[in-house]
Amino acid sequence: MSKLAIHGGTPVRTKPFPRWPVFSEADARAVARVVLSGVWGRTTGKVVAQFEQAFAKFQGARHGVAVVNGTTGLRLALMAAGIGEGDEVLVPPYTFLATATAVVEANAVPVFVDIDPATCNINPALIEAAITPRTRAIIPVHFGGLACDMDRILAIAAKYRLKVIEDACHGWGGKWKSKGLGCIGDLGVFSFQSSKNLTAGEGGFIASNDENLFETVQSLHNCGRLRPKAAAGGGGTGVPASAWYLHHLLGGNHRMTEMQGALLLSQLKRLRKQTQRRDANGRYLDRELARVPGIKAMRRDPFATVVSHHLYLFRYDPAAFGGKPREKFIAAMKAEGVSLSPGYPVPLYKQPVFLNKNFGPYTGWKHTRPNLDYGKVSCPACEKACAGEVVWLSHPTLLGGRRDMDDIVEAVAKVQQHAAEI
Ligand SMILES: Cc1ncc(COP(=O)(O)O)c(C=O)c1O
Repeated sequence: MSKLAIHGGTPVRTKPFPRWPVFSEADARAVARVVLSGVWGRTTGKVVAQFEQAFAKFQGARHGVAVVNGTTGLRLALMAAGIGEGDEVLVPPYTFLATATAVVEANAVPVFVDIDPATCNINPALIEAAITPRTRAIIPVHFGGLACDMDRILAIAAKYRLKVIEDACHGWGGKWKSKGLGCIGDLGVFSFQSSKNLTAGEGGFIASNDENLFETVQSLHNCGRLRPKAAAGGGGTGVPASAWYLHHLLGGNHRMTEMQGALLLSQLKRLRKQTQRRDANGRYLDRELARVPGIKAMRRDPFATVVSHHLYLFRYDPAAFGGKPREKFIAAMKAEGVSLSPGYPVPLYKQPVFLNKNFGPYTGWKHTRPNLDYGKVSCPACEKACAGEVVWLSHPTLLGGRRDMDDIVEAVAKVQQHAAEI
């Protein structure tokens, strides 16, 4: 194999990988139709309501509410589930900030449970040890779009009467057995932020199969207004004009705009095919990268029937790369034309906001955990993942063809063979 590109050799690849977002004139026309209609808000429009029905059906939920982003979705889901002052909620530490800060904003206490290093998802074997009499809920994150072990999580939740709020912010199109991610527990939350596999720049979604939870999140996202049952499924919010200034719950305005709804409806048409391609390319990389010493794909359990691959994750073992740290590997890969990310720098509990308990007005923890000290938390698998073990490949790359995947494998193999020089 030729000299490494970081030392002036020919890169494996100079062509760019597919870009994100994917869009067309049809997306622009869909948004333009809304703009030209002059009906831009969901309270008078029908497009967000159409998207809600379409995405709920696509993912396999009975109901769904579109909201401004995934962060707000998690916050409202926790509120709807009745989580409040001093309650404890189990979360993994290997996830985006919002999974845990939404718990703080519910005035509750995030309790971190380590990940399984082979999947980067919450480790079901460690959940029960973290349960106390104050534990009320668990937020499994289907990280990167890989299903958590929901059989075990649901069994534990049933045993201890915990609510299950799935963070499916990477889960559009992904499946656990025959069920869509985010449609398995009590509530499931999705993100449509600009980097996501289904996007309108920003946006979020709360799915539920439970009529009452759905009505609650519907109200919470619309300033605490109640929707007459008869109007369910209709356009807008279904709230009659006479009830517009009657507020029953501590809700807010978390509504999506009609322009976002139009863009998402239009984008949704591509999602099934894109997911199939990412999933197939993910399986191919799993197989091909297994031949490279020091590289291990995430374990794909049989229940992970469709992986939506917001990220393709693999484990990097420096011992097979001459002891060179992950960052050197990533730099060498970049020179070969393949961009990778080291992912999260630290587990969430090591973020300053948790170490310093910079929780603003939220003091629920003081009531049940006055000695709460996130500096004492230790999740060794997550710490290892952050410190140097896990590498991310982003989802647009997985929209490429077989030859694109072969380039990735070739670049990894080349860097491994020349590891002494990186
Ligand atoms: C796992 C996870 N949860 C929650 C969120 C929050 O979603 P949003 O950015 O739409 O607020 C994200 C977004 O990055 C995420 O990756």
